[in-house]
Amino acid sequence: MLRFETAGESHGECLVATVSGLPAGIPISLEAIGRELWRRQQGYGRGGRMKIETDRAEIVAGVRHSHTIGSPVAILVRNKDWQNWTEALAVESAAVEADHRPVTRPRPGHADLAGAIKYNFPDARYILERASARETTARVAAGAVAKALLGQFGIEILSHVISIGDVCLDRHAEWPEIAALGRASSINLGCVDAAAEARMKEVVDEAYRTGDTVGGVFEVVAHGVPPGLGSHVAWDTRLDGRLAQAIVSIQAVKGVEVGFAAAGASSFGSKVQDTIHYDRAERRFTRGANRAGGIEGGITNGQDVVLRGLLKPISTLRKPLASVDLETREPALAAYERSDVCVVWAAGVVAEAMTALILAQAFLEKFGGDSLDETRRNFESYLKQVQDF
Ligand SMILES: Cc1cc2nc3c(=O)[nH]c(=O)nc-3n(C[C@H](O)[C@H](O)[C@H](O)COP(=O)(O)O)c2cc1C
Repeated sequence: MLRFETAGESHGECLVATVSGLPAGIPISLEAIGRELWRRQQGYGRGGRMKIETDRAEIVAGVRHSHTIGSPVAILVRNKDWQNWTEALAVESAAVEADHRPVTRPRPGHADLAGAIKYNFPDARYILERASARETTARVAAGAVAKALLGQFGIEILSHVISIGDVCLDRHAEWPEIAALGRASSINLGCVDAAAEARMKEVVDEAYRTGDTVGGVFEVVAHGVPPGLGSHVAWDTRLDGRLAQAIVSIQAVKGVEVGFAAAGASSFGSKVQDTIHYDRAERRFTRGANRAGGIEGGITNGQDVVLRGLLKPISTLRKPLASVDLETREPALAAYERSDVCVVWAAGVVAEAMTALILAQAFLEKFGGDSLDETRRNFESYLKQVQDF
């Protein structure tokens, strides 16, 4: 079973990701992980923190001579900002009582108040340190390892921005343009259409100007996915449900669509289902469209897996909203700490990582293997079965 976990606080010494259950022999490159970390830091609307951190992965376990060896892979990403927080977030009690930079004015929409009440802290510092999406750096590092596995089988996962505020990409994006954007060496806002991107940037600029923030929607596409991952047999084996949890677990993502879910809900069945056809020359089934997003009955059907994440505007506002001071219980404006204004592109990159991890999990459930060679043999024998079907 492929499992992954992250640890680390936003201003702590480092972030850590572990990925276990991988076969031995997957080629792993620090450069490829670094590229994913770099992609997460891009996107029009990011805040000052991204200027401080240039994330670099260090692999401390599970990889030898550029290949997995079957043991858990552990990846570490150091926080450059840690040097400013060594006392405030010291692991051991300081001899002198350190200022641990309390946050007593919880931000509406953030984890501050709910977390402080639950963990019984007088302020929200330790809550926001972990709730912060800095944690997603570790997810992206783990996801890069999952992408390395899937890449061996021709599966690639990328994303793009389809709306910011009320400005939407008003056409379908094709895989080649999503791939070109995903592989590009510079990223602006992350929309495949220049005219739509220009309008989206105006919305971000307006949020900057007014001390506000703005959300939007990203789309993740997994290309080259074989039919047969996931299963209809039980609620927790259905792949759409597993992917939905993974996407909504991303900070500030409040909704997910599998395929064209929202448009489908307001349409008729005859307009929504993807018709089935058969190509006798190629001896394979084809589909009239991909509105299902590549999953039917919780099982991949061989079309691209398409997921959309709906991101709320982030909650740290330069023009803060009403809150209450936890010490005095008096009305107060919410705390402001250096913050992003728009993170839709970055959230899409995190969603790619989460999609890669869940697909890799489902892939290994189906094909198993302690070594990559064994996984490949199982995969190829299954592909023959599909061809002969
Ligand atoms: C890539 C990314 C960057 C984020 N940056 C910020 C930020 O700078 N400030 C902020 O208040 N929230 C930010 N968020 C969102 C918060 O982490 C999130 O709203 C918070 O943890 C509460 O969780 P919830 O919104 O899922 O309920 C970011 C989210 C993502 C995905």
